[in-house]
Parts: sequence; structure tokens; C-alpha cells
Amino acid sequence: MKHLLGIEDLSAGEIRDILDRAAYYAKSLETGKWDHKTLDNKIVITLFFEPSTRTLISFDIAAKRLGASVVNWQVENSSMRKNESFLDTILTLNQMKPDAIIMRHVEFGAPNFVAGHVDCPVINGGDSWREHPTQALLDALTMEREIGPIKDLTVAICGDVAHSRVANSNAILLKKMGANVRIVAPAFLMPQKFPVAGLETFTSLEEGLPGADAVMLLRIQKERMKAGQIPDDAAYHKEFGLTLERLNMAGRKAFVMHPGPMNRGVEIADELADDRERSLIAKQVAGGIPTRMAVLDMLIGK
Ligand code: CP
Repeated sequence: MKHLLGIEDLSAGEIRDILDRAAYYAKSLETGKWDHKTLDNKIVITLFFEPSTRTLISFDIAAKRLGASVVNWQVENSSMRKNESFLDTILTLNQMKPDAIIMRHVEFGAPNFVAGHVDCPVINGGDSWREHPTQALLDALTMEREIGPIKDLTVAICGDVAHSRVANSNAILLKKMGANVRIVAPAFLMPQKFPVAGLETFTSLEEGLPGADAVMLLRIQKERMKAGQIPDDAAYHKEFGLTLERLNMAGRKAFVMHPGPMNRGVEIADELADDRERSLIAKQVAGGIPTRMAVLDMLIGK
């Protein structure tokens, strides 16, 4: 693995290796015992062109937990504000010899473009609606730790699938690892085509949830919709919002997941977002650190 640009590029064996390494770091973070110098003398640049809390901060912490130094590039303070082009920015940063670049960008395939112009590994922190590979990896780690082996699971991916890079990366990963994957979305948020074969599709929660072990909700991505497409929050919640009662249609032991940020009262009811027994959302956030430690270790560790 030279870069991590998408789950699409990984074999089931490579995914297994990352998840095993992530599980090792998850346990290590509990005991405080790991090699804190794994990334000694390494310099990582974070290059985020879109807002982020979880991905940006957890990559920063993961790198520092392994001994790296992190440079947080910000577009508003950069020479792109003086009309420097995206490519010239990338070529300039490459000349400073970073050991890795972690990036998020609104353009489809932007990390792949950057990977073709730099000498170090590039890690995709989310591009357009294409892929968000470390989100899918941390979701898989969470499911394995909290529910069971991926190959035994039925996972319902619900909501605004049409605009979701999280849905794409999760669908690809879960199918590669042998899970049963359902896409549950209202017709206007159902994609025209899917990133992987073998997905079951449903247009209502009543049809799509029964028997699911995990219900993975997605944020309504209003910023990717045209004005006339944006649903009314209350109407969407009535039709497609997940409540505890609706989660119970999946089963009394089914869990809710959400990559965040959540729209409370839209795709998820407040009561469910804070339900400590049925929600894995806080555990997903925590799982971001060991997952990203694993990815950094495997790409640039000693
Ligand atoms: N899940 C996720 O990517 O969250 P952020 O946008 O906060 O990074």
C-alpha cells in the first residue's frame, strides 16, 4: 500500500491487515503501551479544503500519538488566496518533503490527482461523494468490536445515499468482507448506480430494516443538493427519521451508527442519538484514533 485513496483499491486481505492493526492500537490506547516513536522524525501535512472535526482532529491526534509532527495547512491562510493554483500549491508543498499528506477535497478524485504529483503517501480524508476510506475502516473496527465478525452481519445503510462518500466506502468494504448490505433510501436519495454489485435496495425503513444488525444513518447533505431538492426537516423526519421505535423494527439488539455530524431531529431522533445501549456513535468517534494510527503506521511507520 503506497497511498490510501479509497477502499476500492484494497483487497480483502489488506482491509483485514488494517483492521487487525487498528484493533491492536485500540487495545494499546487502553493500556498506554505502544511504540510512541513509530513516526519519530516524520512530518505529516493535513490539507483540508472542506470543514471537518472528526477526521481532521483524529488524524492529528493519531499522528502525534505515534510521535509525528503535524502541519495543518489551511486554505484561508494560504497563497491560494493570492491566486496560486491547486497544482502549484501541491508542487510547492511536495518540495518541502513531507512524509505524508492527508487531504479532504470537494472534487471527485482530487487525492488521486495529488498522489500523481507528490513523492509521499497520500491519505484520502474524503473526496466529493466518491470515497471516505478511513470512515469505513473505523466503522468496520467498531462493528467488529461491538457486534461481531463483519461476514456475519446485515448492515442497512440509510438516508442520503446519493450524496454520500461514507455510504460508498462502507458498501465497498462491507461487501469485500462478506457482509449482507442493504441500501435504504427514499427514491429521490437513491443513487442511479452503485460502487459495488450485490447490494439490496429498499425505499422504506419498514421494508429495509427488519433483521439488520446495524443501521448506519447518513446526514442529509444539503450542501450537495440543488434548491428544489432539499427536503423539509420535519417531513423527512416523519418519513425517514430513525427513532428507537423504528430501530426496534430491525431487532431489539440492533445498533444505530452515524459517521457524524448528525442532524438531530432530521435523520435521527434526539433520544436515539444519546442512547448509550443502542448507539455506537460515540464509539465510532473514539475508533477514529486507532484506525488512523494503523493507517499512518502501515504507510510511513518504521
Ligand atoms: N465523519 C466525518 O467525516 O466527520 P467530519 O466531517 O467531522 O470529519
